[in-house]
Amino acid sequence: MSGSRVIAPGSPPAAVPGEATRRYLRALAERGREPADRTAVPPTYKRYRYAGRLVLPAREPHGDLLRGLLGVTRAEWTHRGVRLKRPAPSGGALYPIEAYVALGEPAGLYHYDAAHHALDLIRPGDHRPLLHASLTRVSAGVPDVVVVLAAVFWRNGFKYREFAYRLQCQEVGVLSAQALALGESLGLDTAVHLRFDDAACQWLLGLDPTREGVLAAFTCASGRAVPPGPPPRLPAAAEEHPPPSVVDRLPCLTALHAASAAPLPGVLPLPPPPSPGEVVRLPAARAVRVADAVPLRCSPEAGFLPRHITAETLATVLAHAAAGYPGDLPGCHDAPVTCAPHVLVRRVTGVPAGAYRYDRLTCALVAADGAGDVLAGPLRPNTRLALPEAAAVVVPVGDQTTGSATFGDRWYRLQQAEAGLVVHRAALAAAACGLTARIHSDGTNPTTDAVLGLTGPLHALSFLLLGIARPGSTVTGPLG
Ligand SMILES: Cc1cc2nc3c(=O)[nH]c(=O)nc-3n(C[C@H](O)[C@H](O)[C@H](O)COP(=O)(O)O)c2cc1C
Repeated sequence: MSGSRVIAPGSPPAAVPGEATRRYLRALAERGREPADRTAVPPTYKRYRYAGRLVLPAREPHGDLLRGLLGVTRAEWTHRGVRLKRPAPSGGALYPIEAYVALGEPAGLYHYDAAHHALDLIRPGDHRPLLHASLTRVSAGVPDVVVVLAAVFWRNGFKYREFAYRLQCQEVGVLSAQALALGESLGLDTAVHLRFDDAACQWLLGLDPTREGVLAAFTCASGRAVPPGPPPRLPAAAEEHPPPSVVDRLPCLTALHAASAAPLPGVLPLPPPPSPGEVVRLPAARAVRVADAVPLRCSPEAGFLPRHITAETLATVLAHAAAGYPGDLPGCHDAPVTCAPHVLVRRVTGVPAGAYRYDRLTCALVAADGAGDVLAGPLRPNTRLALPEAAAVVVPVGDQTTGSATFGDRWYRLQQAEAGLVVHRAALAAAACGLTARIHSDGTNPTTDAVLGLTGPLHALSFLLLGIARPGSTVTGPLG
């Protein structure tokens, strides 16, 4: 195996906290564009050998939650053919995240078969108490349902290589935002868990962490307590075509995931001192229900019309992006704690174009002390086309390294997940206001950092363009 040391599952984390993160970030910074290995394209769906199956009834909250997260719900027709899509965005539409569901009635641990909208039994017995016990922050009672999200590393790793882990971590944040929005409309009291004992979850799910790694969990309560079922029993079903190990293919990803297995009790880094830039007050945010926007959201295929949006719409998007959420990071009920939204304003009526930090307490924009032009950065062709016509860009910003001194290498995962949550909340709020939005990961680069006036360990973590959709040649519609 080349270069870095891979830690076997269950063994102690890397001796120096943050070292695996530094190596991973170095690998990303130094990577060239490798062509995707099309001969190694892995299957899009995961299947288990039949050992029992729950067909999810229509209009049942937990089934609707799963369908709204990962169901195959949309078809897109282009000149290239038909592409099946899911409700939440995913880098390259490769959907590397799988969901595992622990139910009390009928008691079992199940895999969500997205292609058939059904639950396949993996192990009989009530796994909720053990999964619940592996979480760092537990509720008073055992939840009705526990959902664990895991990334199949090679599903998008064959294309994005080591960068795949960054996408996977952001995608569990995206799915967390989606779960919270869906939970609101389905009457499910949903909480996001990013800090749990990886080894315990991994073992219960029967997953090999060099192939597929647990990254996040949700607990859901509907107010109708499900009594405990029989204890977990032996595995009932095996995976049909286990995904390949990435130990040799993606050594930095493997090392970072292994080093971040323990949920250490961390201390949040101090936020940077507020810069004294010019202040632009925003109007009050409009009341919108992001849950209503879930079926409307999609990423624009042909960029934006060069039109202005109102300052009230921008205020609404930013208020949702910066809102607190039910989670397990200290302080996250008030606001995301590992990153904060910034914005590049391009076409917003009454707000001068420029780079700003969003101050959520005063609902104001503070001009950034940066320099340069984002368009001068290393952008992909579709970003170069869409950016000049977008109305604004939401950019979560965070300190990538300081947190790892106490949170260990788990910091990377926590922060990327929150960055995904922030941009997806912004995207849903934009959709609720009649706009469209698309993540352009290539917008996170040193030029963008300079424009935002970021120094030291602060970096742009994601880059969400939003505006008024330009009609394209793509036709997207709901399935079935
Ligand atoms: C974490 C993440 C990163 C993404 N990065 C890019 C990107 O760099 N460029 C791009 O054009 N789209 C990017 N996307 C958007 C996806 O390509 C898009 O979500 C996918 O094609 C599915 O389409 P949909 O959003 O319409 O459902 C990203 C999405 C996610 C969740």
